[in-house]
Amino acid sequence: MKITAAITAVSAYVPDYILNNQELEKMVDTNNEWIMSRSGISERRILKDKDKATAFMAAEAAKKLLEKKNLSPLEIDLTIVATVTPDHQYPATANIVSDMIGATNAWGFDIQAACSSFIYALTAATKFIETGTHKKILVIGSDKMSSIVDYTDRKTSILFGDGAGVVLLEPTTDGTGIIDSKMYSDGSGKKYLYQPAGGSLFPPTVETIANKQHFVEMDGQAVFKVAVIKMADVAAEMMERNHLKAEDVAYLVPHQANKRIIDATANRMGISMDKVMLNIQKYGNTTSATLPLCLAEWEHLLKKGDNLILTTFGAGFTWGGIYLKWSY
Ligand code: UT7
Repeated sequence: MKITAAITAVSAYVPDYILNNQELEKMVDTNNEWIMSRSGISERRILKDKDKATAFMAAEAAKKLLEKKNLSPLEIDLTIVATVTPDHQYPATANIVSDMIGATNAWGFDIQAACSSFIYALTAATKFIETGTHKKILVIGSDKMSSIVDYTDRKTSILFGDGAGVVLLEPTTDGTGIIDSKMYSDGSGKKYLYQPAGGSLFPPTVETIANKQHFVEMDGQAVFKVAVIKMADVAAEMMERNHLKAEDVAYLVPHQANKRIIDATANRMGISMDKVMLNIQKYGNTTSATLPLCLAEWEHLLKKGDNLILTTFGAGFTWGGIYLKWSY
């Protein structure tokens, strides 16, 4: 019997503070009508506590999952954290999270592929399950985007929010789980969406800080043009490769960067919007957390055997698609 990797639990955490469009109107030259029509975002969550960051949100989500599943943290073999906002350059946030939740038998590492971090991490984790070497893996997407957003830049400050989501991956032989995946990257897209300084090329200096080079830098239109094609393409590719017709798909689980990109993807797949997990209006773009936040919110509507298509597009450029059969 073929072993596949099944998602057997999901959970999420978002901070309490709500930054809505009306408050943003007081911070930058923008308005609710523009933000809603161009992006579909109405509000986002912000982690205000100065002493808390990505690992905290990841650990909160993971603790909820363990409690819900009545699982000891000692049973976790591996913790993978998908993030672009690690607590520190090193050690990996995954190590910090494992310590916070008491997963002392787990090893762990971080994966960074911008807004595709979670789908890349889930794909990588799947291989550890399929080979039979690991039995319980936490795949966490967590980002404190407010730590790298310039709240004087109207082009980016309206888009991002903070949050975390987690799935538990376990082996199954019942035919459900992750059936297919295809990941892509194109580094020539680097210049359109990146954080200029803080890495080894431009370490922090007084100048990089004065020039605001530690924030998200984006040419929105250039990213949009590629995203709208690639995210739809890879979703359609997942359907074709697996002989799925629109009526076979229970839900599309898309990255939440812009409602117009999500609409185009659903349209390309031929599915109606009631089959699309959409929460961009209340969370904005939470980068690595978007997919597990959707899964956690829609969990109560999912049935064993439901066909889901997960898809993302992000800086890099990075994009990808996963076809899975829901396992519970
Ligand atoms: O998550 C990783 C991947 N990221 C994405 O997929 C994001 C892709 N990009 C987008 O979602 C869209 O490009 C944005 C939502 C960021 C922007 O929407 P747009 O329709 O591409 O707007 P634009 O950048 O072309 O700007 C149109 C106009 C400009 O004014 P002019 O030059 O036409 O006079 C901007 O200066 O809107 C102006 N503008 C704003 N106006 C009010 C830009 N930001 C704002 C704002 N409020 N916040």
